[in-house]
Amino acid sequence: APAVLRTVEEVKAWAAGLAREGRRLALVPTMGYLHEGHLSLIREGRRRADVVAVSIFVNPTQFGPKEDLSRYPRDFEGDLTKCGEAGADVVFAPTPEVMYPPGYQTYVEVTEVSQGLCGERRPGHFRGVATIVTQLLALFRPAVALFGEKDYQQLQVIKAFNRDLHLGVDIVGMPTVREPDGLAMSSRNAYLSTEERQRALSLSRGLRAALTLLHGGTRDAVALTGAVRHELAAAGLREDYVALVDAERLTPLDVVTPGRAARLLVAAFSGNTRLIDNMALGG
Ligand code: PAJ
Repeated sequence: APAVLRTVEEVKAWAAGLAREGRRLALVPTMGYLHEGHLSLIREGRRRADVVAVSIFVNPTQFGPKEDLSRYPRDFEGDLTKCGEAGADVVFAPTPEVMYPPGYQTYVEVTEVSQGLCGERRPGHFRGVATIVTQLLALFRPAVALFGEKDYQQLQVIKAFNRDLHLGVDIVGMPTVREPDGLAMSSRNAYLSTEERQRALSLSRGLRAALTLLHGGTRDAVALTGAVRHELAAAGLREDYVALVDAERLTPLDVVTPGRAARLLVAAFSGNTRLIDNMALGG
């Protein structure tokens, strides 16, 4: 089983030891309740570095006042076993007081790619994400940190502050791991009833329908987002947003253009559970 670190001092001492030995570190930040999506990041970390650290921390600053912070799913013992099996060497599991002690007053704000989409629907969310990931990168000083494309806007936000703040970490984005029926894996899938889970398939089904349309020559944003909206509506899901955007800048696109990478993103509620998914649409 991986060693468990609980304090900032323990992480600093451990990371300093690695640096002395010249060993390359991969960091995988998570909020726990681990699934195959998280484990794919840990396994890729093993391939890219000598040592892998996983953080498990349900970060309060990225949750809105009406969001699911207090009921976010947790299974620390199960997570430790999975981390060990996937090849993690240490797990950092701090309390909120460790990451945000009295007097804490520093936040990281990314002003462009954090606008719109989830940034608009969840005010303050990416400020919380950027702040905690900056803290983790500063503490561990990893050579590489791995994140999922499932949270596509989050990945672009992290790439932006890593670049702008000269952190020099190799930020690696990994493909979305899906259930056999297409549902993107997410810790929040645990909230879904059997019926809500069935209806939730409309997100990935809608994205696949849009991709099929694109392959048939439809490049117009209204038609492509319409294919997703059609599937959401048929399943009775409430749309949060559906958007065709530039894959790097996340600015809205009217049409998919050859040579310019585009991304189709969706957020919708199945019951009370907010789900997101996205897909590359050519370029
Ligand atoms: P969490 O939702 O636990 O996700 C941790 C990492 O796993 C993120 O990089 C996320 O994109 C990735 N991930 C989640 N589901 C995935 C899937 N189906 N396939 C591939 N990767 C997947 O994202 C967060 O935590 C937090 O915001 C965090 C970055 C840890 C900051 O608190």
